[in-house]
Amino acid sequence: MNDWARKIREGDVRALARAATAVENRDPQAAELLRELAPHAGHALVVGITGPPGAGKSTLVDAMALALRKQGKTLAILAVDPSSRITGGAILGDRIRMQQHHADAGIFIRSMATRGSLGGLARATADLARLMDCAGRDYVLIETVGVGQDEVEIAGLAQVTVVVLVPGMGDDVQAIKAGIMEIADVFAINKADQPGADRVEHELQAMLSLAHGHVPAIVRTVATDGTGIDNLLAAVERPVTQRSAGEIRGGPTIDHLGIAVPALDDAIGFYETLGLAVGQRERVASEKVDVAMLPAGDSRIELLQPSGPDSPIAKFLEKRGPGLHHIALRVPDLNAAVASLKAAGARLLNEPRQGAGGHTYVFVHPASAGGVLLELIQGESH
Ligand code: CO
Repeated sequence: MNDWARKIREGDVRALARAATAVENRDPQAAELLRELAPHAGHALVVGITGPPGAGKSTLVDAMALALRKQGKTLAILAVDPSSRITGGAILGDRIRMQQHHADAGIFIRSMATRGSLGGLARATADLARLMDCAGRDYVLIETVGVGQDEVEIAGLAQVTVVVLVPGMGDDVQAIKAGIMEIADVFAINKADQPGADRVEHELQAMLSLAHGHVPAIVRTVATDGTGIDNLLAAVERPVTQRSAGEIRGGPTIDHLGIAVPALDDAIGFYETLGLAVGQRERVASEKVDVAMLPAGDSRIELLQPSGPDSPIAKFLEKRGPGLHHIALRVPDLNAAVASLKAAGARLLNEPRQGAGGHTYVFVHPASAGGVLLELIQGESH
């Protein structure tokens, strides 16, 4: 190992800073250095932090850094600003931070602005993260300035991505681009002491209720006083592979519990008292029902009200009264499940068909399913 690489491995911050600059400048020496250090890669947890301007990302990242230092962890903060050619924001932020963390060799900070193409920036960010990893940093926090496509791409380089939101965004939660929803592993509702935090959380839950399989965590934080930072770190550290047990095992998971009620609004009122919120409400004409979906953890409660006298739910209410109407399991391969059930002589009420929201499902007769109507839903293929 050459002297430079050895110094970096020994924790020499000057050598690391010089290497970071070389990486940013695409210095041929940097490539050689990274090759030399390559055997030491794979130690750090690389976390991307993104979200709209004004969400307090820098403050949140600093609070995470301080909490990690209290745990004795070392880290690097890479603040990436694809737009700073215009604003100079990254440079300013860097200066303020350098003052705060000045004396602590356990926090390495580097701000990066666009130099030429975004592709160059994304690649430099990835190389820098690798350098910090090889240098033995426990964490690499990649912070981006906004939620544009560029930022999403850069945050997506990380193993775990935190999307920071704040109260007062209102309907903006709906407006967040699909791209950012897809990369989010954790949502941090920052400034959670401000009015509207509940609303943001409900809107998030509502949006997430429509997603299958990939279920990001939601954590509330107040970065300025450190509230919730430990929870945020716990959510970030939770291995990606543990995020959805059903997804890993590939087995069925409970998608929702269907409850037949005479009056949707009364039932919604009750469940809202418990802190649940309606994520989706619609009329399913083919089933003659009005439906309200209320996300509950990784699952959901589906309230069903008949939309006409000839609705199956109307008949159910007449015969059995309000109550549990069906259980819905999400299965990885619906056609395979249907084939197995048919082979086992189970009574299916329909062939697989498309319901509202585009999902494919079948119903299994209670006589075959232990007395409960069973809905099987095709899981999202990843
Ligand atoms: Co259902």
